[in-house]
Amino acid sequence: MKNSEIIFAKKEKLIPIAGDFFLKDIVSLDQFNQKSIELLFRQVTKIKKTSTKKLLKILSGKIVGLLFFEPSTRTFSSNSAAVKRLGGQTIEYQNPLQTSSVVKGETIEDTTKMIEQYTDVIVMRHPMVGTLEKVAEVANIPVINAGDGIGEHPTQALLDMFTVYEKHKHLDNIKGLMVGDLLNGRTVHSIIKGFSIFPNNTLYLLSPEQLRLSKKDLDEAKRRKIKLIEIKSFEEIPADCHFWYWTRVQKERFADKQEYEKLKLSFILTKKLVGKKAGKNTLIMHPLPRVGEIETAVDADPRAVYLTTEAKNGMYVRMALFSLILSNGKKV
Ligand code: NCD
Repeated sequence: MKNSEIIFAKKEKLIPIAGDFFLKDIVSLDQFNQKSIELLFRQVTKIKKTSTKKLLKILSGKIVGLLFFEPSTRTFSSNSAAVKRLGGQTIEYQNPLQTSSVVKGETIEDTTKMIEQYTDVIVMRHPMVGTLEKVAEVANIPVINAGDGIGEHPTQALLDMFTVYEKHKHLDNIKGLMVGDLLNGRTVHSIIKGFSIFPNNTLYLLSPEQLRLSKKDLDEAKRRKIKLIEIKSFEEIPADCHFWYWTRVQKERFADKQEYEKLKLSFILTKKLVGKKAGKNTLIMHPLPRVGEIETAVDADPRAVYLTTEAKNGMYVRMALFSLILSNGKKV
C-alpha cells in the first residue's frame, strides 16, 4: 500500500509493520520484528475468544479479493473463511489464467488496479518470485502475499510460528527441524526469516543434496540471529526438538521430472521414526499438501498437528491479520 504522500514514488523497500498493521501490505517476513509478531499473536488469541456475533462486525461492508494464479486448498479456503467469519465478503479467482482478463493478455499491474476498484484488500498467489512486491508497489490498497513462486509465503510462516508459540509459549530458544525441499519451499524461506527475529533459535536442516537451502539464504541467515545446522540423516536429528517441519518436494519447480521422481521420497516420516526420535512435546508439522512424505499412520499421534491445529490456526491468524489491517484491531 502506498503512502499517500509518495503516491507516485517507486517504493524502494518493503514497509516494516513495526507498531501497527493498519493498511499495511504483508509481502515478506522481512517486514516483521518481535513487536509486530507479538502484536499479531495477541490479536489471534483475542479473536479465538471473541463471540461470533462480535466477530461478524469486524469486516462488515468490506470486500477482499482473492486472486490465486497457482493451485491452493488451505491458503485459499482459510482466507475465504476468515473474511466471511468476520462478516466480510470475497471476490474469488481460483484460476485467473483461465477465467480472468489475464487470458486476454492483461498485465498483473492492470489486473491489480482493476481489482482494487472493487475491494479493500487483495490476497494474491503467483508463480513468479517478486510479483507481490511489484503488486504492492502499484496497489493503493493493502496486498497480502499468499505465496510468490519459490520466494516467500509469509502468512503460512506466521500461522506455523503461532502454532509453535501456542504450544511452547515462547519463540526464542527454539530448536526445530526442517525437512524436505528447502531450496524451493517458500514456507521454509519465510519461517527461517521468522525464527531469526527471536534470539537463540536453532534450525536443523535435512534435505537431499540437490534441494539444500540456497547459498544465498544460508549466507543471509549467518547475518541474522539464527543458527542453521545442516544434517545428512535421521540419525543426526537432535533430541527434544520443539517442532519438526516436514515439506513436500515441489514437483512444479522441476524442469526435469525424472529428477523429481528420484528425489520426491528421500525422507519419509514414519511412525517408527516418530517413536524413535520425536520428543514428548515435539510438534509434528507440515504446511500440506503431503504427497507421501508422511505416513498416514503418523496422523493419529497427538503431536501431529498438520491436519488439525496447524490448519485451523491458518484461519485464525488470517482473521487477526484482516482485523488489524482493516480496522486496526478494534471491534474485538
Ligand atoms: C504450501 C505452499 O503452497 O507453498 N502450501 C500451503 O500454502 N499450505 C506448501 C506446498 O505447496 O508444498
